[in-house]
Amino acid sequence: MDAIDVIHAKRDGAQLSDAQIRWVIDAYTNGSVPDEQMSALLMAVFFRGMTAGELAVWTRAMIESGERKDLSSLGRPTADKHSTGGVGDKITLPLAPLVAACGVAVPQLSGRGQGHTGGTLDKLESIPGWRADVHEAAYLAQLRDVGAVICAAGNDLAPADKKLYALRDVTGTVESIPLIASSIMSKKIAEGADALVLDVKTGSGAFMKDPDSSRELARTMVRLGEAAGVRTVALVTAMDRPLGRAAGNAVEVAEAVEVLAGSGPSDVVELTLALAREMLAAAGRSEVDPADALRDGRAMDVWRRMITAQGGDPDAPLPQPAEKHVVPAPATGTLTRLDALAVGVAAWRLGAGRARKEDPVSAAAGVTWTATVGEQVTAGQPLLELHTDDAVRIPRALEALEGAVGVDTDDRPLPLILERIGG
Ligand code: URA
Repeated sequence: MDAIDVIHAKRDGAQLSDAQIRWVIDAYTNGSVPDEQMSALLMAVFFRGMTAGELAVWTRAMIESGERKDLSSLGRPTADKHSTGGVGDKITLPLAPLVAACGVAVPQLSGRGQGHTGGTLDKLESIPGWRADVHEAAYLAQLRDVGAVICAAGNDLAPADKKLYALRDVTGTVESIPLIASSIMSKKIAEGADALVLDVKTGSGAFMKDPDSSRELARTMVRLGEAAGVRTVALVTAMDRPLGRAAGNAVEVAEAVEVLAGSGPSDVVELTLALAREMLAAAGRSEVDPADALRDGRAMDVWRRMITAQGGDPDAPLPQPAEKHVVPAPATGTLTRLDALAVGVAAWRLGAGRARKEDPVSAAAGVTWTATVGEQVTAGQPLLELHTDDAVRIPRALEALEGAVGVDTDDRPLPLILERIGG
C-alpha cells in the first residue's frame, strides 16, 4: 500500500477500500505514514466526505488501534453518555451517579476542556483531593462497588484518535461530520458499555451551529454505534444559551450538587432526567423512574461515594474567586437572548478554560447568571456575575459579552430537546 494512492483516491472522489482504510489508520498510528500525508488525506475527507460503509470501517480501525474494554464481568448492564460539548454543560456530574443509583453501571471516560467548552475532569478537579487518574483494577472495582466512575481515558483507548485529533486541530479539519463522528464513537465504543446515549448540542455554543447539521451528526453517530453492536440513541438539545445558571468549574460542581439535593435549575434537572431515562431504557431498565432516585437521596449517596473513591472530599468547601464583577440587566422585560458562545468565551477568558493543552485552569473562575431565556428581568438587576482569580481578566471577558444579552428582542430560543434519534 502507498499513502499517495489513498490520498489520490479520496481527493478524486473514489471510494476507499476496506484494506486501504485499515492500512492507513494503522500506518499513521504506528508512525509509518507521516503527518503531512495524513493531513492531505484528512483534507480530502473534509471535502469529499465518506460513505456509510467507509466510515464504519474507518471507525472500526480507530477502535482496533487500541483496546476495546470488556465490562461483562460486572454482571450488570452498563450505559454511557457523551455530550458533543457546550457551555454550562455539567450534566454528566449528576447523571452518572443517578443512573448508577438505578442499577445500571456508568463507565464514563471523560476529557478536559477544549476552547470555550468546559471539560468534566476540569470541573471535578475543583473538588479538593479528587483525582482524575484511576488505574484499570481500581476502575473495575469502583464500577462494581459504587456503580459509577468518571475519570481520564488511558492511552490504550483509541490511540489513533489521539494523533488524528491533534492533527485535525492544526490543519483546519475538525469541523467534518465523518471525522467528528468517528473520533467520538471510536472512543465511546472502545469503553465497552452496552448502551450509549448521545447529547448532540446545537446552537452558538456548540460545534454544530444549526439543527440540520446537528441532526446529521446525531444520525451518523447512532448508525456507527448500532453497527458496532452498541444500543445507541441521540437527543439533539439546545446550546443557543448556556445550560443552568453557571459556567466554569467549581460553580458547575455546586450546581450539580444542588440538582442531586433535589433542587437546581429546571433545565439541568429536565435534561438530566431525560438522558437518564434514555440510558436506563437502552440498558433494559425502562421500568425504573430516575426521578425517584433524585428525590429520595440515592443519587446523592452514589455521588458522595464516587467522589470519595477518587480521593475527593464531598464536604470540603469549593474554591472561591478573589474577584467578582456584576453585570446588570440592560432593560426591563423578557430575557430573549443569553448567547451561549459569548458566556463560554467570557468564562474561558476569566480563567475557567485553557488556551493551550498544557495550561492549568482556575477552579474558581466562571460566570453565573440569575435569569435565563424566557424569564422576566428588571433594568439594573444583577444579571451576570463574573468570577476570577485575577481582576485584569475582567475587561476581556466583558468584551466577549458585548451583545450577548437581549431583552424583548425577536430571538427565538430553541426548545431544550429538539429531537430524539435512534432506538
Ligand atoms: N470531540 C471529539 O472527541 N472529537 C471530535 O472530533 C470533536 C469533538
